[in-house]
Amino acid sequence: MGEIVRLQKYIAMSGAASRRAAEQLISEGRVTVNGEKITEQGVKVEIGADKVALDGEQLKVKNKKYYIMLNKPEGYVTTVNDQFDRPTVIDLIKTDLKDVRLFPVGRLDYDTEGLLLLTNDGDFTYRVTHPKFNTDKTYIALLKGGISVKGLNMLRSGVKIDDYKTSPAEVEIIDAAEGYVTARITIHEGRNRQVRKMFEAVGSKVVGLRRIKIGKVELGTLPLGRWRYLTSHEINYLMNK
Ligand code: URA
Repeated sequence: MGEIVRLQKYIAMSGAASRRAAEQLISEGRVTVNGEKITEQGVKVEIGADKVALDGEQLKVKNKKYYIMLNKPEGYVTTVNDQFDRPTVIDLIKTDLKDVRLFPVGRLDYDTEGLLLLTNDGDFTYRVTHPKFNTDKTYIALLKGGISVKGLNMLRSGVKIDDYKTSPAEVEIIDAAEGYVTARITIHEGRNRQVRKMFEAVGSKVVGLRRIKIGKVELGTLPLGRWRYLTSHEINYLMNK
């Protein structure tokens, strides 16, 4: 007999979603067990015996976990399948890792490049992306027309985007040339288009954005469009920070 676990844990073990996101998928009616739609929480399944599917696709619990860092180029979506058939970040790794079902850890915009983590470990995704763990993310932003001192100070104390006040960011100018300024900014949350919206809130336009760091894990010299495995040191750090 296989191990008996809650349905949301099974989904997280398959790597398809974090446990919390799995609960949402269950209540949205997207999960079936042995062909039967399950919408209530707390149902238990037996690994290896019950057939669990998400949107009709069977989820398998695999023991081997993969943790990958990709240097995402612009022009790729951070999803597994795109409704408009645009290239996805999975396209950049799937020729090497054919049978592994990897999922992006959080997201980067279509027009953002840089450090993106991918894994089939839903608990890892949860540790890195859940707001309660406050994972810092550092970006290099190219600003057209520059930024005022007042703008920098506003970012440092927190600005209002949508109906939300951001926590204080670390931001500094690292280069300036011919109507453009390059800034390094570290934020503590991960809201949709947050960096672009923060600069917009202080009157600056982001025309290029690259993520270089998640917590202490750095993109370093990994070439654009290439990926590498995280080291065990990096995995342990991100899991336990
Ligand atoms: N902030 C943004 O505006 N875009 C990203 O892709 C990531 C953070």
